[in-house]
Amino acid sequence: MELNKIYNCDCLSGLKTLPDNSIDCCVTSPPYYALRDYGCDGQIGLEPTPELYIEKLAEVFEEVRRVLKPDGTLWLNIGDSYAGSLKGKGSNSEKYMQPAASNIGDIITTYNLSNYKNKDLIGIPFMLAFALRSQGWYLRQDIIWAKPNPMPESVTDRCTKSHEYIFLLTKSANYYFDNKAIEELAAYDGRHNLNRYGSDKYRTGDTGLQQQNINVKTTERWRTNDSGNFVRNKRDVWFVPTKPMKEAHFAAFPQALIKDCILAGCPENGIVLDCFMGSGTTAVVARKFYRNYIGIELNPKYIKIAEKRLNNELGMFL
Ligand SMILES: C[S@@+](CC[C@H](N)C(=O)[O-])C[C@H]1O[C@@H](n2cnc3c(N)ncnc32)[C@H](O)[C@@H]1O
Repeated sequence: MELNKIYNCDCLSGLKTLPDNSIDCCVTSPPYYALRDYGCDGQIGLEPTPELYIEKLAEVFEEVRRVLKPDGTLWLNIGDSYAGSLKGKGSNSEKYMQPAASNIGDIITTYNLSNYKNKDLIGIPFMLAFALRSQGWYLRQDIIWAKPNPMPESVTDRCTKSHEYIFLLTKSANYYFDNKAIEELAAYDGRHNLNRYGSDKYRTGDTGLQQQNINVKTTERWRTNDSGNFVRNKRDVWFVPTKPMKEAHFAAFPQALIKDCILAGCPENGIVLDCFMGSGTTAVVARKFYRNYIGIELNPKYIKIAEKRLNNELGMFL
């Protein structure tokens, strides 16, 4: 297994060459369903139904589970799609997939879907999360990536879509998670007592909770870090602007989005896997924070972009 390399192959066949229990953390974003054409035979995302798409991804993530160390984590970014009619392109009575957040790229809207009504949100992220959970993954969290600068949409009968999911999935119930590495600044409200107590209702001896022996011990509201700042455990809504990329790979992660996945999920000198590496964002962030990476990407053009980024952004780390 060569570290700090992007393998040009299909993700499933690439993953099969990796040893069991060897990877600390996987951070990845598969192609969204029926959203864009990445210009390669064998690409995932163009399956005729959402169900077949989920089946294919479940197969891929089963291999990811095998190669993860027992205390490893998977951070899986995934967006949704709507079933809708194609105005001006054929019959309006036919049902097609449309992207829920039309970011960029060559949008594919040609599938006729029988299981969904026009305008239905398919619910792809949770279809995938539940499929992985039933395979044995622990579904630990649905982190919301809230985009302060979403793509404008012309809809007037629902709100503009401005979020995607990052699911935190784990191989075991206990796993590596460095919460201190990603703690966030807390607004100190002036109280001297840094511990939060339950209200009197729950602390006096004769309440129902006390009688039921429910744990009412103190929980920490905030703490101070080494620089003396008040900090708190990171929340699960992450406000991160999208950033267009000069090299124009479709749907590249913002570096700021995945930095915390890598800091919390992988120790220094550990290995981060991205089996849909695209333009190499996971590799760049991993190297910036002294982690190794292994990438897999089907389209050689994107690997060229990734190598250029790695070279330009951190040549000295390569
Ligand atoms: C959403 S993009 C990933 C973008 C990446 N996170 C970044 O920051 O640039 C998905 C990528 O998966 C690749 N891909 C599609 N099918 C694949 C397959 N079967 N095996 C490996 N890569 C595949 C596409 O070429 C595309 O680059």
